Amino acid sequence: MEKKFIANVEDVDEGKQKNFTYQNKPAMLINYKGKFHAYVNICTHEECETQLAGDTIYCPCHGSTFDPETGEATGPPALPGSKLANIKIEVVDGKIYAL
Ligand code: FES
Repeated sequence: MEKKFIANVEDVDEGKQKNFTYQNKPAMLINYKGKFHAYVNICTHEECETQLAGDTIYCPCHGSTFDPETGEATGPPALPGSKLANIKIEVVDGKIYAL
């Protein structure tokens, strides 16, 4: 499968996110503490879209939280052990791609 361009490195500042579509699903690229991570943005509780909020990924629907570095659930109602699906990314010449 072809890699998909998401954003230029300089366009996603630390603490920010960029939403995109990945394999027809909502997805998020986040810059957390200067490092990029990407996840399928479907809450493991009832499938709302989440957002990076400081040191956590927060779901506005019912308040679940997830670890920005791993996507793992850190607060209910998302079940412990559930996680946002990771999307592998690659940075080439200042451009970020989903693989
Ligand atoms: S859908 Fe995310 S907390 Fe319920």
